[in-house]
Amino acid sequence: NAAEQAASKQNAGYLAAGMVEDGMVVGLGTGSTVFFAMERLGERIATDGLSIAGVPTSYQAAIRARQYGIPLTSLDEHPELDIAIDGADQVDPALRLIKGRGAALLREKCVCDAAKKVLIVVDPTKMVDTLDAPVPVEVLPFASAGVFRRLTLLGAVPVVREGVKKDGPVVTDNGNFILDCDFKAIADPGRLEAEIASIPGALECGLFCTYGEKITVIVGEGKGCRVV
Ligand code: A5P
Repeated sequence: NAAEQAASKQNAGYLAAGMVEDGMVVGLGTGSTVFFAMERLGERIATDGLSIAGVPTSYQAAIRARQYGIPLTSLDEHPELDIAIDGADQVDPALRLIKGRGAALLREKCVCDAAKKVLIVVDPTKMVDTLDAPVPVEVLPFASAGVFRRLTLLGAVPVVREGVKKDGPVVTDNGNFILDCDFKAIADPGRLEAEIASIPGALECGLFCTYGEKITVIVGEGKGCRVV
């Protein structure tokens, strides 16, 4: 139920926040689970004198970080990050991810790439044997019809993501559209990620398949966490 899921997310977020060390520059992901990590980082800053700076992956992450008293910096200042904490929508046994429910995938991938170490915080519902959720693709509006067609040729059924409190397409923090692409069960996620990356105007997709070596997945559970 919802209370158990929230407790799982909190456990994962808090454990991740405990792994951040003094002086680190930290990538701050987007979503409800990573916000628990940010809440705990804010407490550690306030009560333990932890000194860190965060690079937010979205306007939402930046707003939350300010609320929790986490000083912010940028990839311009810190092209290499000590660690990043982020959520995910699905995680497979090879630690490949689908991300982007919150439409923050482009900056999330930049931050993931910049980080030496990545902590992915999830509740158990995110763990799957095979990635099969729709893959969000951030597309340049100028090229969106062509990208839509190319994604169809790759086997997807793309859907233009629309706003809940806005008519028409969701516009990302970067001014682009999102195509949610249902490929059903993805047999070779790494290959699909590379194929999507080769489409001009497909700026980034929510498949994260090349970071397994530096990713630690923290699965929050009812009473504690499982670290994968
Ligand atoms: C944001 O675009 C996503 O990549 C999030 O990281 C993901 O949706 C996780 O969100 P929750 O922690 O709220 O499930």
